[in-house]
Amino acid sequence: MTGRTATTTARPADPCCLVIFGASGDLTHRLLVPALYNLGVAGLLPDAFALIGVARSESSSEAFRADLEKSLPKFATRQIDPAIAKKVLGNVVYVQGESDDPRTYEKIGRELSRIEREQKTQGNRLFYLATPPNAFVPIGCHLGQSGLARQDNGAWRRIIIEKPFGTDLASAQALNQKLLSVLKEDQIFRIDHYLGKETVQNILVLRFGNGLFEPIWNRDHIDHVQITVAEALTIGRRGRYYDATGALRDMVPNHLFQLLSLVAMEPPARFAADAVRAGKAELLDAVQVQARDEALRNSVRAQYGDGFIENHAVEAYRQTMDVKRDSTSETYVALKLMIDNWRWAGVPFYLRTGKALRAKLTEVAIKFKQAPIAMFRDTPIDRLAENFLVLGIQPKECIGLNFNAKIPGPSIAIGGVGMMFKYEDYFDAAPSTGYETLIYDCMIGDAILYPRADGIEAGWRVVQPFIDAWREVGAQGLATYRAGSEGPAEADWLITAEGRRWRPIA
Ligand SMILES: NC(=O)c1ccc[n+]([C@@H]2O[C@H](COP(=O)([O-])OP(=O)(O)OC[C@H]3O[C@@H](n4cnc5c(N)ncnc54)[C@H](OP(=O)(O)O)[C@@H]3O)[C@@H](O)[C@H]2O)c1
Repeated sequence: MTGRTATTTARPADPCCLVIFGASGDLTHRLLVPALYNLGVAGLLPDAFALIGVARSESSSEAFRADLEKSLPKFATRQIDPAIAKKVLGNVVYVQGESDDPRTYEKIGRELSRIEREQKTQGNRLFYLATPPNAFVPIGCHLGQSGLARQDNGAWRRIIIEKPFGTDLASAQALNQKLLSVLKEDQIFRIDHYLGKETVQNILVLRFGNGLFEPIWNRDHIDHVQITVAEALTIGRRGRYYDATGALRDMVPNHLFQLLSLVAMEPPARFAADAVRAGKAELLDAVQVQARDEALRNSVRAQYGDGFIENHAVEAYRQTMDVKRDSTSETYVALKLMIDNWRWAGVPFYLRTGKALRAKLTEVAIKFKQAPIAMFRDTPIDRLAENFLVLGIQPKECIGLNFNAKIPGPSIAIGGVGMMFKYEDYFDAAPSTGYETLIYDCMIGDAILYPRADGIEAGWRVVQPFIDAWREVGAQGLATYRAGSEGPAEADWLITAEGRRWRPIA
């Protein structure tokens, strides 16, 4: 069966004005405006809609609109219909200004008042902070202090903040504290675009929409869980950002922990923002915070050397533009985490992520315990297929189950087989940038896919011991792996030492 498109009862979002800070940047052009266009195609963009772009560069409203009109067809995920493009870009204004200058907010305020009068956007304002992270606090504080984000007369005022939410526990707490001193928690939407992916959202439906899995989703039946986010891409031109950040900070407290919390959280009482966000934060709160020596024992960090990816020669990380020649920033990390609650006590969660690996692969693999083998004495245990339930997120959106079956023939011989559900076989996925659902949800005030301050801080609390321990030991313990490989040998030891093995990155 193919071609089933989700029937949607979704209504168009509330009338609103979207104010994008960082409007001249890559995110705005490549993902946000194409996502608005897709919302327009789906009939989810309100009729009363306007867009204000803010950045420091000199430009005008006419030039900015022309710029977006030119870039939209380049980055859109589908053919452009001029009538829908007009709906998205029909009311575009550019405001030039520094993010820490009060006059910038006076100009924005004047434009908002005019737009609200002329376009009837009802005073609803969505501020999107698509800027480098050092501008988050100044912009958030100015929006709060200037009154532009004050909610009154039934109008909503919301702020979307891009990642990274801090660079360690202290900075994440400081960021939350500063924002919460001028805004309410329910106005702040911290975006993690991983949660815009259908297959990530489907983890909740798979677990809680079926009676099948939940009874065995616990330490009695699950041996361990592997979460892999592997990229074949190198760091490319992002050397300056990446070398100051590393794989752990860049990927783990956000994307990998979102997957971890969806897979491991307790069932929420309701499918509603508060219940789901509380469940996720509670789960992250239950992850063991490791002492220094444990953190070193349960982690592997590595940098890629030179090699080949898909027959292309790749230079070593330390040879990349804007990367220090003696850099100790990791491009690969593998962690073993334990969760201190009744469901998961004793079940290891192995997480790994890296750049310049053999293939692009994002998956969550749940390994069930081996069957008691007394019945099949002639089949050595290492010849039995491992029972993995695999949730494929990228590049294949799928769910697979590996199990054992009898090989046809007169004797009882056992072979591993698999069942596979592929999204594409059942549903027509609308072409998407991954930002559509998230922007729409914010416009209708549904924060279910947005992590809360406590969830963000709980994540950093888990990651902090690794940051501290690695800083202390410096280059010692930093492994290397060949670009185009599956990662360092040390990461294999992390898991094989416990009689387990990674699934292939292929
Ligand atoms: N691009 C992506 O795919 C992507 C994906 C996920 C998250 N993000 C996050 O989104 C944010 C923007 O990324 P980007 O790739 O669009 O970066 P970018 O291409 O460098 O654009 C940054 C934008 O912010 C403005 N800006 C720079 N410094 C500023 C400052 N101090 N105050 C106010 N505005 C400033 C820039 O314009 P002016 O110089 O004219 O002010 C530009 O419009 C970052 O936080 C990034 O981590 C990006």
